[in-house]
Amino acid sequence: MLPLKTLKEIEGIARKEKEGTDTLIHDFGHLERTAAGARWFVKVLGGPEEEQELAYAAGLLHDIVRPNTEKEDHAAASAKRSGEILEGLGVDKEDVRRILEAIADHRRPVEWRSPLHQSVFLADKILEQMGAFVVFRRSYYIGECHDFDCQGFGEAMTAHYRRKLEKFRPDVFPTRFRRLVDYQYEWVTGFFGHFSGSEPWAVELARMCYEAGKTHGMTMDGCVRAYKPREAEGRRLTEEALAYMEGRKFPEFEKFLQ
Ligand SMILES: [Fe+2]
Ligand SMILES: [Fe+2]
Repeated sequence: MLPLKTLKEIEGIARKEKEGTDTLIHDFGHLERTAAGARWFVKVLGGPEEEQELAYAAGLLHDIVRPNTEKEDHAAASAKRSGEILEGLGVDKEDVRRILEAIADHRRPVEWRSPLHQSVFLADKILEQMGAFVVFRRSYYIGECHDFDCQGFGEAMTAHYRRKLEKFRPDVFPTRFRRLVDYQYEWVTGFFGHFSGSEPWAVELARMCYEAGKTHGMTMDGCVRAYKPREAEGRRLTEEALAYMEGRKFPEFEKFLQ
């Protein structure tokens, strides 16, 4: 079992190493929410408390090395750096191995060996890359990530959303989570419909986050808090994103499990 003191130390190191990061969508907030999500997934998959704590640690470290491009394998780099951190803290060797396995495989599905192994992938994909929150996060990402530097706002938004929608494969998630995935995904497709239809509130939201991503004038979380929607759709989306950020969605998510 990871002692609470060690978890706190990991948290402190993750927070410190994220200071001055050049990708604010992967800031400490992202690590902390992914950690809480990974712990929740292990719990609902029936993993013991000890595994839940290891999943929390894995979530805190999964993007500890995160360059501002998709062209480098940050999962392998994060696993390597996490190994140094955990060994430095004297964490049990077998625990280190299991944490690193979850970090190394957080980007795409593999043959899962345990709830812990799968937990960071599930939290990152279902909670951070879907849902109302990602509507803000994705626009911020498009503004921030250097891979889009040669495209303008509208073009980059449309191309990226289309690519993501085409690539989406609900069958990579366990059947138990399909309803949750559908629920989370609907926020994304719904928003893209409003954006494609040039609805002012949707364009305004995306533009604000995109600009903040470019300039870092606001953090990712700051964008959600700063957006003041006038339309009911925008308000519904913002309230949902805030509830997720504040960790208030888990009881409802639990009801979607099959
Ligand atoms: Fe990642
Ligand atoms: Fe991540």
